[in-house]
Amino acid sequence: MSSLMLLAALVVWTHWMSPWLFNLLLAKSHETGAPTAHPAGVAALEASEITNRPAISAGHRGGLCALGDLHGDPLHALRALRLCGAVGDDWTWVGGQMTIVQVGDVLDRGNASITLLEHLWDLRDQATAAGGELVLLLGNHELLNMQGRTRYVHHKELEAFGGKTRWQNAFDPTSGAYGKRLAAQDAFAVRGHGSCRTLFNHGGLRARLAAKFGSVGALNHALQTQLTQMNGELLDARDGPLWFRGYAIPQLAALTEQAACDELAMTLATVGDGATRMAVGHNIVPWISSRCGGALQLIDVGMSSAYLGRPAAWRCDEDTRANVSIVRALYEGDALSEEPPELCAACASVSPRARLLRSTSHEVLRIDPHGDCPNYC
Ligand SMILES: *[C@@H]1O[C@H](CO)[C@@H](O)[C@H](O)[C@H]1NC(C)=O
Ligand SMILES: *[C@@H]1O[C@H](CO)[C@@H](O)[C@H](O)[C@H]1NC(C)=O
Repeated sequence: MSSLMLLAALVVWTHWMSPWLFNLLLAKSHETGAPTAHPAGVAALEASEITNRPAISAGHRGGLCALGDLHGDPLHALRALRLCGAVGDDWTWVGGQMTIVQVGDVLDRGNASITLLEHLWDLRDQATAAGGELVLLLGNHELLNMQGRTRYVHHKELEAFGGKTRWQNAFDPTSGAYGKRLAAQDAFAVRGHGSCRTLFNHGGLRARLAAKFGSVGALNHALQTQLTQMNGELLDARDGPLWFRGYAIPQLAALTEQAACDELAMTLATVGDGATRMAVGHNIVPWISSRCGGALQLIDVGMSSAYLGRPAAWRCDEDTRANVSIVRALYEGDALSEEPPELCAACASVSPRARLLRSTSHEVLRIDPHGDCPNYC
C-alpha cells in the first residue's frame, strides 16, 4: 500500500471515529465526577486564550455547520468560523464545499458591525467560488437597522461612521449601500442532507405563517417584498419569524411546552422540505442546547464580546450507514464538543450559580438577562 493510501485510510478512519472519540471524552468527564455535565458550556464567561484550533477537518464534503448571533464582534465570529473549519487566519475560506449557515444578528451591540458584515459578505463570495456555501440569514437586528432604528448600534461605531442620519441612509433597504444588500438576503434556509436536514431561521417560524406561505422560497420572497415596503406580518415584532421567541420560551407566547413543540412540528411538516429540526438564534441560552426532543436547536450563546461571550458553533454530521445525524456543539479549548443537551435538563443539572451565570456577571445582561436558565425553565 502506498503511503498516500495509508494517509487516506487514516483520514477516513479519523472522520468516522471522531464522534465516538468525542463521546468517549464526554463519558470520561462524567465518570471522573467533573463538576458539571457541561464543562464547555459552563465555562462560558471565563475568557480563555485564542486557541485557533479547528475542531473538524477543513473542506469536509457536505459538512453542515451553523453560527448563532454574532453582534458586531469580528474576532469572535472568526474564531467561531474556525471551529467549523471554514476559515484560515484572516478571513480566507478553507471550508471547501462545506455549508455554513449564520442565523442573523450580525449587527449591533458590538463595536464593529460594519467590518463584520463586510468580512462575511466577502467570505460568502469566497465560499461560493470554492463550491461551498455561506448562508447569511436576516435577524431582527438587521431589520432594526433597515428600519432606521439605531438604538443598539455601538455609539463609537455610529460616531465614527458620521452619525445617525448617515447610518440610517446607508441601511435603507431600497437605497442604502448596506440596506439594499441586506434586503436581498434570505431569512429562511433548509440545508443539510438526510438526517442532518435542518430549517434555519432567526427567531422561529409559526405554523400559521408556514401554512399561509407554503414554502421557504415563498416566505423569503414575501419577506423581501415586505422589507422594501417596510410593512407586513413577517416583520411583526412579536409573532414574526425574526422576533418570535415562543419555541425557545413557550410561556412568552402563552404556549405550553407541548403546544410549542407541536406547532414546531407542524411548521417543519409544512415548509421543512424534509427537515427534522429547526435551528434558531435570537435567544441567548447558556449552552448550545435543544428543546422538543432535539426538534428545536438553540444556537445563540451570546458569543459577542458585547455579552462577554465566547465563540461557539453547531455542527451536524450524517452517519450514512445508520442514517442518523450526529449533532455537536463546538467550543474552543479542551472540551471540543458535546451533544447539545436538552436545555431544561441541563439547567437542572448545574449549580444555582451556573444557572444564573450571565445575569450576575455583566451589566448588559442584567438589563437583558435572557441567557439564564430561569428564563427558559
Ligand atoms: C471594540 O470592542 C473590542 C471587544 O470588546 C475591544 O477589544 C476594542 O478595544 C473595541 N474597540 C474600540 C475602538 O472601542
Ligand atoms: C434518513 O432519515 C431521514 C430523516 O430522519 C429520512 O427523511 C430519510 O428518508 C431516511 N433515509 C433513508 C434512506 O432511510
